[in-house]
Amino acid sequence: MDCRLHLVLFFFCVHLICLSTQQETRFVYNGFDQANLYIDGNARIVPGGLLQLTNTTELQKGHAFFEQPFNFDPSSSSLSFYTHFVCALVPPKLGGVGGHGIVFVVSPSMDLSHAYATQYLGVFSNPINGTSSSSTPHLLAIELDTVKTVEFNELEKPHVGIDVNSPISLESALPSYFNNVSRKNISIDLLSGEPIQVWVDYDGSFLNVTLAPIESEKPNQPLISRSINLSDIFQEKMYVGFSASTGNMLSNHYILGWSFSKSKELLPSLDISKLPQVPLPKESKKKLSPLYIGLVVLLVITVSMVLGGMYWYRRKKYAEVKEWWEKEYGPHRFSYKSLYKATNGFLRDRRVGKGGFGEVYKGTLPGGRDIAVKRLSHDAEQGMKQFVAEVVTMGNLQHRNLVPLLGYCRRKGELLLVSEYMPNGSLDQYLFHDENTSPSWFQRISIIKDIASALSYLHTGTKRVVLHRDIKSSNVMLDSEFNGRLGDFGMAKFHDHGANLSATAAVGTIGYMAPELITMGTSMKTDVYAFGAFLLEVTCGRRPVEPELPVRKQYLVKWVFECWKQACLLETRDSRLGAEFISAEVEMVLKLGLLCTNAMPESRPSMGQVVQYLNRDLPLPDFLPSNPGIGAFMPVSVEALSAIGVPSLRNSSVSMFVTHTILDGHGR
Ligand SMILES: *[C@@H]1O[C@H](CO)[C@@H](O)[C@H](O)[C@H]1NC(C)=O
Ligand SMILES: *[C@@H]1O[C@H](CO)[C@@H](O)[C@H](O)[C@H]1NC(C)=O
Ligand SMILES: *[C@@H]1O[C@H](CO)[C@@H](O)[C@H](O)[C@H]1NC(C)=O
Ligand SMILES: *[C@@H]1O[C@H](CO)[C@@H](O)[C@H](O)[C@H]1NC(C)=O
Ligand SMILES: *[C@@H]1O[C@H](CO)[C@@H](O)[C@H](O)[C@H]1NC(C)=O
Ligand SMILES: *[C@@H]1O[C@H](CO)[C@@H](O)[C@H](O)[C@H]1NC(C)=O
Repeated sequence: MDCRLHLVLFFFCVHLICLSTQQETRFVYNGFDQANLYIDGNARIVPGGLLQLTNTTELQKGHAFFEQPFNFDPSSSSLSFYTHFVCALVPPKLGGVGGHGIVFVVSPSMDLSHAYATQYLGVFSNPINGTSSSSTPHLLAIELDTVKTVEFNELEKPHVGIDVNSPISLESALPSYFNNVSRKNISIDLLSGEPIQVWVDYDGSFLNVTLAPIESEKPNQPLISRSINLSDIFQEKMYVGFSASTGNMLSNHYILGWSFSKSKELLPSLDISKLPQVPLPKESKKKLSPLYIGLVVLLVITVSMVLGGMYWYRRKKYAEVKEWWEKEYGPHRFSYKSLYKATNGFLRDRRVGKGGFGEVYKGTLPGGRDIAVKRLSHDAEQGMKQFVAEVVTMGNLQHRNLVPLLGYCRRKGELLLVSEYMPNGSLDQYLFHDENTSPSWFQRISIIKDIASALSYLHTGTKRVVLHRDIKSSNVMLDSEFNGRLGDFGMAKFHDHGANLSATAAVGTIGYMAPELITMGTSMKTDVYAFGAFLLEVTCGRRPVEPELPVRKQYLVKWVFECWKQACLLETRDSRLGAEFISAEVEMVLKLGLLCTNAMPESRPSMGQVVQYLNRDLPLPDFLPSNPGIGAFMPVSVEALSAIGVPSLRNSSVSMFVTHTILDGHGR
């Protein structure tokens, strides 16, 4: 019984011994919570299993050894060993400087207390003759060194080296790993704070050191491969462990996991997913977050500015001015957006006319109807109500020789008038610009009659008197059948029959403006004067004032009058008429022109009479060149106009001053 118990105990003990000897050939730690480690110096095991060799206190060293030695007796066992560990070097400021580094040590003793803390990574004390005179001979160290030791001619940057008995490396290299995919060496920043994998393999003749970032497999090319005979260095019992130190430069030195084996095949693999977390420096987190917040804020601001800008741009693009009183004109009001779309965004190619007042664009409404949009600039909000009221009233005017006004739109500083599009453009183009399409006399007299009829309607045919105030060939439009139609009511003025109009401002185009305009203001007679100038313009094929011509011919009224006095009236007719005209009719129209441009307003006929003369319902009254006021074109009035701010340059040009005056006149 006793004997059997002893036997069992004996076998149990043998088993234990076998176990312990087996344990001595290999181990693995995925974190060091239950590890059998000998620890000294600054080293400690952080709750969670992280092995911290040093913290960021100056002049510290820390050591950690596996408690049991390994047998390296060359006679009984191989010298080979294989190890794989994961470490992290975390300086106080990420990406900044740190020191000094971590060393994997194979040493005959766990006591490295003699080593300098300030230098040599907490392993060596004598820099030059490591073995012979030192108390710790037989040392192998694999260093991850992050400072340059000037006296050893070490590599400039953080480096990896193999040291035997001396801090002077036998072999060193800049940290990098071979990437199998890109087939390139990729450098590793030792002080990034990221975990780094290190393999140290010794097969008895070659010592290989391999590095890789935590997420990589073991590269199939080592960083350092060095032929080395360690039989004189290794003693029978050797301890394996780590050392780290700080000097003036500081790092937290951590080991996360470690496996070791005497044989390559038995090396246990680390479970990377079970390794403890490395705390990163708080300062750098603080430093990082304002930058991050700043970036986010910047992004948010940029995005909202872009969105806001787009919204604002759209709003601004289509913005209109709308007031409560416009409700009653609703049907006549166009939205700016619809006009914008109709004219392709007021495209230059869509522009069909341009004057001092503004520009005219051709547009197409969604239904396919063609419109002309005139953009007038206006600053005065005052008087707008009345003007819009009148524009709308004008839309209600029905006469076959008026360009139908469809509606309007208001924006800040801008008024848009929408009228029917006249496919054949304005009369002045045919009279002055296009040599080949000069209208025949019969076309001209027909257009003259059309305009006379329209003007007569405006003066007497409606509930209120409408003064056009800007009659000239460029405001006479031609429809598809070449009928004349009076257009552009941008300057028109409304008033009740019989009202006194003396206080209205002088507006119009030079050459068509009656001399009394400045002193007495607008009246039906000033429209008649302009119509007279228009008669002469159409018949003679030239503008009322042409400064380039010889002095004798410069002023059309005067020239026609002079020719009449010399009994050669017909010679003033447009030479492009050829022979196709009725002399009596041309003569009558020229005389009527002179009658209408009489300097004395009371001597001018009314538009009703003009229509009758043109239709030969009434004979032209007898008058002679000697009658007062006839042919008295007064260039003085041009100068007078310039004195009050109207540039006296071109007959066709209408000044901005005029634009203001219309609105002022309305806002009175
Ligand atoms: C480092 O550890 C020591 C104790 O080992 C402690 O006194 C010191 O405050 C620590 N330093 C830092 C910066 O944590
Ligand atoms: C190192 O060893 C050499 C002889 O090999 C000796 O001359 C020298 O003084 C020693 N240096 C130190 C610092 O011990
Ligand atoms: C690395 O490359 C070798 C061939 O050069 C190939 O056999 C091996 O599978 C590759 N390993 C990986 C992890 O891609
Ligand atoms: C990578 O580095 C190793 C060792 O430093 C070197 O032998 C090898 O030629 C390098 N390979 C490339 C592709 O640069
Ligand atoms: C060391 O690396 C070389 C290739 O560079 C390889 O041939 C050798 O087997 C390696 N030795 C060990 C012990 O891994
Ligand atoms: C290593 O050196 C010892 C003597 O110093 C020698 O006996 C042994 O053969 C050497 N080993 C190798 C692999 O060269």
